[in-house]
Amino acid sequence: MKTTTSSFLVLLLSLIIITLIILTPTGEAQGTSFGFYSRTCPNVESIVRSTVQSHFQSDPTVAPALLRMHFHDCFVQGCDASILINGPNTEKSAFPNRLLRGFDVIDDAKKQLEASCPGIVSCADILTLAARDSVSLTKGVGWPVPLGRRDGTVSLDSDTNNLPAFTDSIQVQVQKFADKGLNAQDLVTLVGGHTIGTAACQFFSNRLYNFSTTTTTGADPTIDPTFVPQLRALCPQNGDGSRRVALDTGSQNTFDDSYFKNLKNGRGVLESDQKLWTDPATRTIVQRYSGTIRGLFGLRFSVEFARSMVKMSNVGGHTIGTAACQFFSNRLYNFSTTTTTGADPTIDPAFVPQLRALCPQNGDGSRRVALDTGSQNTFDDSYFKKLKNGRGVLKSDQKLWTDPATRTIVQRYSGTIRGLFGLRFSVEFGRSMVKMSNVGVKTGSQGQIRRVCTAVN
Ligand code: HEM
Repeated sequence: MKTTTSSFLVLLLSLIIITLIILTPTGEAQGTSFGFYSRTCPNVESIVRSTVQSHFQSDPTVAPALLRMHFHDCFVQGCDASILINGPNTEKSAFPNRLLRGFDVIDDAKKQLEASCPGIVSCADILTLAARDSVSLTKGVGWPVPLGRRDGTVSLDSDTNNLPAFTDSIQVQVQKFADKGLNAQDLVTLVGGHTIGTAACQFFSNRLYNFSTTTTTGADPTIDPTFVPQLRALCPQNGDGSRRVALDTGSQNTFDDSYFKNLKNGRGVLESDQKLWTDPATRTIVQRYSGTIRGLFGLRFSVEFARSMVKMSNVGGHTIGTAACQFFSNRLYNFSTTTTTGADPTIDPAFVPQLRALCPQNGDGSRRVALDTGSQNTFDDSYFKKLKNGRGVLKSDQKLWTDPATRTIVQRYSGTIRGLFGLRFSVEFGRSMVKMSNVGVKTGSQGQIRRVCTAVN
């Protein structure tokens, strides 16, 4: 009898573990989830796909263009479609985004989605889906995309400094990706997006002429010498800098791993690409993709690209973001007589001078301060740790900690309460987001669903 009971318990426990494994979502994070629009806009994926497809049929260059656009969106303010907003001094008008194309594809998909499910689907989700569809349309392997992004309301030219530049060293490239929670492998994998598309001569012709005195041609010595005349023919010295050249010579229309083989053979077009091979910090990863390292240590580009894309597509969301001084500077001056500084006593005293420096008394109320100090570009649980330490910026945020009604929940997120009673922010946020969308509640300050992607509502 005893054996039967314990066998039953073991069986039950195994079933619970298996169920948990099956139900644990892969790729969902930071408020995104699979099937996010399954009730509110079930055709979202097919509408985006058919729109991208029809544009692709008349102009196949939209595929690389959309993939690049998504990358440039995610690296600035997170994947929030801030790249799409029109206007002076917006991201779109910034130098690194000058040559982006494909905006009409997103506008077209948005128009159709507004007709079938008005106000439901974010431009950020449309762009994320369009990037995935661009990969499958160029014969790459697609992947399931978790959805539920909100659109951002801030788009600033000056924020585009985060974007990697083709002149960046590997150290800088690795750092810029690390700032977004992406590691060196994600860097190499995602730059593998250069397996499709083209670059304008202006971005690499410096490598072809007067680059070095160690080569007889004056070309960058890391370029395969037999490749130099080919590139020179395509980009003559002092020629038209806007002429475009394949980033993955011989296979620019197909999403495959030949790009890495080209790097190995000194046939990378951009200086930043070739450095992935010449720098020992990333070379092994290129070897693992290019077939030089095989077997257990080899990597399958299609599998890893999907994984890294889901990671990149989840950059952002809104523990990230900022608040204008006008919404909290009352807490910094003449708020209370119980503190010597006059500041709100629930603010960590060491934090007061920092906030005051950012928002001087009677200063510019529109100046913006990170809501999650020190981690405003990363969607993580550090926000709750800040609340616990009296470092919430808005009064309403800090009250989540000071009020006993919500304090336990903050404790469960911030690691004060762990184990069975702890909560995983990434998991719970996704769950709560789905719940929230089902009752049609909007998270006002966290974002919006733009009616048109080129302007905030
Ligand atoms: C170190 C990081 C990166 C640098 C420095 C870089 C730089 C560049 C440059 C200079 C171009 C040429 C742009 C033009 O002439 O219009 C380009 C094109 C492109 N990039 Fe990147 N890139 C990087 C990472 C990525 C990532 C992570 C992706 C995608 C996941 C990506 C996707 C593309 C695509 C698809 C194109 C071709 C665009 C077209 O044909 O219209 N890049 N990149």
